[in-house]
Amino acid sequence: MCGIVGYVGSQSALDVVLAGLKRLEYRGYDSAGVAVLADGGLATAKKAGKLANLEKALVEEVLPVGATGIGHTRWATHGGPTDANAHPHLDNAGRVAVVHNGIIENFAALRDELAERGHRLSSETDTETVAHLLAESFSACGDLTEAMRLVCLRLKGAFTLVAVHADRPDVVVGARRNSPLVVGVGEGESFLASDVAAFIDHTRTAIELGQDQVVELSGGGVRVIGFDGRPAEVRTYHVDWDASAAEKGGYDYFMLKEIAEQPKAVADTLLGRIDGQGNLSLDEIRIPTHVLRETDKVVVVACGTAFHAGMIAKYAIEHWTRIPCEVELASEFRYRDPILDQRTLVIAISQSGETMDTLMALRHAREQGAKVLAVCNTNGSTIPRESDAVLYTHAGPEVAVASTKAFLTQLVACYLVALYLGQTRGTKYGDEITDVVAELSGIAGEVDRVLETMEPVRELARSLAHKNTVLFLGRHVGYPVALEGALKLKELAYMHAEGFAAGELKHGPIALIEQDLPVVVVVPSPRGRSLLHDKIVSNIQEIRARGARTIVIAEEGDESVAPYADHLIRIPRTPTLLQPLVATVPLQVFACELATARGNEVDQPRNLAKSVTVE
Ligand code: F6R
Repeated sequence: MCGIVGYVGSQSALDVVLAGLKRLEYRGYDSAGVAVLADGGLATAKKAGKLANLEKALVEEVLPVGATGIGHTRWATHGGPTDANAHPHLDNAGRVAVVHNGIIENFAALRDELAERGHRLSSETDTETVAHLLAESFSACGDLTEAMRLVCLRLKGAFTLVAVHADRPDVVVGARRNSPLVVGVGEGESFLASDVAAFIDHTRTAIELGQDQVVELSGGGVRVIGFDGRPAEVRTYHVDWDASAAEKGGYDYFMLKEIAEQPKAVADTLLGRIDGQGNLSLDEIRIPTHVLRETDKVVVVACGTAFHAGMIAKYAIEHWTRIPCEVELASEFRYRDPILDQRTLVIAISQSGETMDTLMALRHAREQGAKVLAVCNTNGSTIPRESDAVLYTHAGPEVAVASTKAFLTQLVACYLVALYLGQTRGTKYGDEITDVVAELSGIAGEVDRVLETMEPVRELARSLAHKNTVLFLGRHVGYPVALEGALKLKELAYMHAEGFAAGELKHGPIALIEQDLPVVVVVPSPRGRSLLHDKIVSNIQEIRARGARTIVIAEEGDESVAPYADHLIRIPRTPTLLQPLVATVPLQVFACELATARGNEVDQPRNLAKSVTVE
């Protein structure tokens, strides 16, 4: 949410910053802006809308060339997406420029205070107050880094700030509380960004800033201090994914590429976690075995798509471990005074590792004494850093705003945790656990097989592009899959889409069924849970009798559904609990194609941003 870039070096700062912003545009695309220090002054340009608008403006209004600069791509919080509200924001003298990610909660009081001292604020943003405070603070102390530190002490909320001052032409300062900020360390140049993707073309050496730290980039290198003024320990790490991972690689959209990458993402997430004997080896979960044995409750917290992964995890955890498991939207969790103690294991699922709702939920859980295990895709991000243990998913960078490959790998990670807990504690399902672990080894190939058969799904999606509503039904683990299918369609196609537990249909939603309404039904395997299967076949008949156009997702060989399916999408046979890994893929393809047919921006759906760093 909001992308930030800063640069000090010998290249054209504008070029470096714009290229970085392009890589970060997935974080917000309401407006974009840059500031460059050159010729003893500060030159800025900013425009509402996508980065392309800013680039166009910069052709008409050329900025002077300088080697120090900052940039921002915005997801609007305070103030609409206008030119005036776009970042950077300046002080009245036009000497200080600030970009910001997050929310400054006490900005109204700060504005009033600044106005009383004669400052004129021209935007509706919370960020502008920082530019004015920083200018004042710098005038008083003459040190930009110290000035930033003093300003941060006055701010409430979650924020990442990056700033420059025309009187310090070779310095960029940044500050971090809660929202992400990473430093890139190059040869004679340094970078600041919300995500390593912004500087991966220049350097693979990065420093993850800790909570409540201020960083200074200058010709002399990188210096980090805490908000308490003390020098902070700096730990560099190597960024191990290559630049091509952040490119479209011949696909029209990142989302298409990421859907296609799912077999590899699934295989990579399993890699090294099942040994040659078919046993799970998850030594990286550093929670001692005795703690896992004594766990008497599991609580999963997550948001959006990750929450759907959590809902599926509940079925797996309760079945294989026999420990009660609750799943809760992270945004609701801490506000209802949940019952937690030392014997509770909280699993926080997050692709970005920065989602504020999830972060706040895990902090609350730890305060209550619970152990927290993060399932995360982003190395070194805040959620794993603040958890007791982490199981990384290896989906690689996910750039499209709508989550696809991260979801599948979250499922894999949750299955691994559930199976590992079951193995560690020993349950009556020992043999089943061994069988499922064996099945997991081949699951990437099954996801690949699904991808090979998607043309009819794309065709169907195109034929439904004019519809207003699509409903999704499922039972058991098919229910969260239905919710995920509906979420993908909402966010990408901007259509009314709803997922229901099929058994709930007759308790209300069946009233929505009308002639030719598309209804997608995820059918559980007829093997193992035949009662459940029979029930959903009845549900399909009930909606079809009322005119629905049935789109049925069923496993190969399940002939019982064929007579009631207007469209039949086949998926490979898998153990019941693993079915979401193959059943979700057609729904992703369906939503992506339907959105494309409606002329929507697939990678950057309206109003959204990836990595939601405000509550
Ligand atoms: C939907 C989507 C979001 C995220 C949610 C959580 O396609 O991507 O619903 O799943 O914002 O994000 P993370 O996993 O980064 O915590």
